[in-house]
Amino acid sequence: MKGPVLIFDSGVGGLSVAQSLRQHYPDAAMCYACDNAWLPYGLRDDAVLAGRIVAVCRAAVEACQPSVLVVACNTASTLALELLRAQLTVPVVGTVPAIKPAALMSQTRHIGLLATKATVGRPYTQRLIDSFASDCVITPVAADALVIEAETYVAGGAPNSEHMQAALAPLWHAVMPSTSAVPALDTVVLGCTHFPLLKPWLMQLAPAPLQWVDSGDAIARRVAQVTADVGSGQGDGRCFTTAPADRLIAGFAHYGFAAPQLLRVGV
Ligand code: DGL
Repeated sequence: MKGPVLIFDSGVGGLSVAQSLRQHYPDAAMCYACDNAWLPYGLRDDAVLAGRIVAVCRAAVEACQPSVLVVACNTASTLALELLRAQLTVPVVGTVPAIKPAALMSQTRHIGLLATKATVGRPYTQRLIDSFASDCVITPVAADALVIEAETYVAGGAPNSEHMQAALAPLWHAVMPSTSAVPALDTVVLGCTHFPLLKPWLMQLAPAPLQWVDSGDAIARRVAQVTADVGSGQGDGRCFTTAPADRLIAGFAHYGFAAPQLLRVGV
């Protein structure tokens, strides 16, 4: 099937995935859709959120006619991936925390999972840990405040270091444990697509050098497996939001997307 890659997130986090896709497929046509009217997803009720995700993705698929939908949101994917695949006819690629590659990289066998409150608590996430990192200590850190800092950054502002430090304190504790009974954490899974956008600040604030792992490369590989068209299209760059987003126009342009149009959603 011909058509662009449609990238969906609650907000600007999917731009980190768009960046990874562009590195792998510089000529791929891409569309972007985000549900900024409902941002942040990480603090919403699961049952209501699942229906909303399906409704927004359905509207975005209708608007873009993509060859593949990339759900560039861990919070949405760990909740609604199966539902989306059952309800939509287009192939769906999800984004889930990169626990498996992190477990392959960690020397100390102590991994941090930096994600939204919802993703940290999901059974899907626990299954990933049980399957791929059962011999590791996992320190989960719900860092929803970082979602807002990433939104601020893409809107042209500076992330607030104090807010970031407060959100990251539990992670830094594990990097510098007060007892030798627990190994020092050496690897961090960026389990929210907003967080790779903040990587320069994360690296600067960390009390020691760490390995940072996100899902971008794995998503890019998976996209090529489900569609033959990646790399064959002209740049499309259409962009859809569910609420006005004028302050993001320059940010979207920086990542290769046009000024956003309003997406009409059934619910
Ligand atoms: N970017 C989303 C993720 O990967 C979450 C942001 C939100 O809480 O809305 O989980």
